[in-house]
Amino acid sequence: MGNAATGVLRGAGLHPWEAEADAQGIFGLVAAAILAPSPHNTQPWRFSTGPDWLLVYADDARVMPTVDPYRRERTIALGAAIENAVVAAPAKGLVPTVTLLPEGPESALMARIEVRPAHVELTPLAEAIPNRRTNRGPYRPDAVAPELLAELGDAGDITASVRWVVEAGARQALGELLVDAAQAVADDDAMSRDGYSWFRPTEAAIDAHRDGLTLDGQGLAAPVRAAAKLVPSLASRSMADAAWVKQTKNVHTKTAAAYGVVLVDDPAARADQLAGGRLAQRVHLTATTMDLALHHMNQITERIDRDRAAGRPSGIAERLAQILGADAGRALCVFRVGWPSRPGKASPRRAAHQVVAHEA
Ligand SMILES: Cc1cc2nc3c(=O)[nH]c(=O)nc-3n(C[C@H](O)[C@H](O)[C@H](O)COP(=O)(O)O)c2cc1C
Repeated sequence: MGNAATGVLRGAGLHPWEAEADAQGIFGLVAAAILAPSPHNTQPWRFSTGPDWLLVYADDARVMPTVDPYRRERTIALGAAIENAVVAAPAKGLVPTVTLLPEGPESALMARIEVRPAHVELTPLAEAIPNRRTNRGPYRPDAVAPELLAELGDAGDITASVRWVVEAGARQALGELLVDAAQAVADDDAMSRDGYSWFRPTEAAIDAHRDGLTLDGQGLAAPVRAAAKLVPSLASRSMADAAWVKQTKNVHTKTAAAYGVVLVDDPAARADQLAGGRLAQRVHLTATTMDLALHHMNQITERIDRDRAAGRPSGIAERLAQILGADAGRALCVFRVGWPSRPGKASPRRAAHQVVAHEA
């Protein structure tokens, strides 16, 4: 879908990555917000705008009921979208004031962002917004220096933190848990179906939906990617699941230089989910400015939520507690970082105008 010679992204679903820089004012904030990551690229958001405000809503039609039974990941994604809008604001000549959950935690209204005009100020983080990618490819064996991890995890004024898992033994234990959790998701028929319904195997499906997971986004080497597009095997759910578990085992966990675990006081609380999502996105944008790769990996927390929803004890939760100690109860989401061996590819988005309603 990309054109390496010109750098131009082909396919209408990729245009929002290029449109963001030119989008101004409040609409520019929406153009930045929609470039946020979301579980399976569900893009669970909608917006309404006025002359000096932006409302960010959850779209509960765009969720995975068994993968995300408590809408935890959906809300993390909305936190990431809010963070993109806040980070982009200076570049759009705006100063934002954010009120999270202005109608309380039960409402679909996640944030009200009021803005006032200011001088345009370009920042490295704002410039990273259209360059950020989820990178699912192999990472190089080099470590990430502790000073870089400290800089990466700087939460600023966000009430969440990052616990880094770097030591070899802990990293291996977390890696094995990620592989086992991936297998458990694949073996769970409802979760497997839920996830696969967001897989877009062809360019026609990508253009029609402008969301979901694509082959281009899987971090495969170019020849493997080309072969996968020709052979319809990933169009079968069981083959896609098997490929994901295999990649988790042989690539994702084998080459993770470090894992980051976003910690909050209460992972079940909407306000903490939004704060944790904002921090995860800040980390991802900072990583982008450093040319570091990042990949969200949430099968552990998905299985813990699934076990809880089914009312059964969770062996996965017990193993996470062995690795993280008391922090396990505060774990909101997990990602890996490292030095990329190939760049991540852009994933599709619905355009800003498709998700925004104007109000006077
Ligand atoms: C809350 C959340 C959970 C995610 N979980 C996973 C995951 O478990 N595995 C994975 O490969 N990607 C995961 N992702 C990454 C999304 O699939 C990715 O953001 C989406 O496909 C869009 O791609 P992009 O980030 O490159 O724009 C997650 C993202 C978010 C925000």
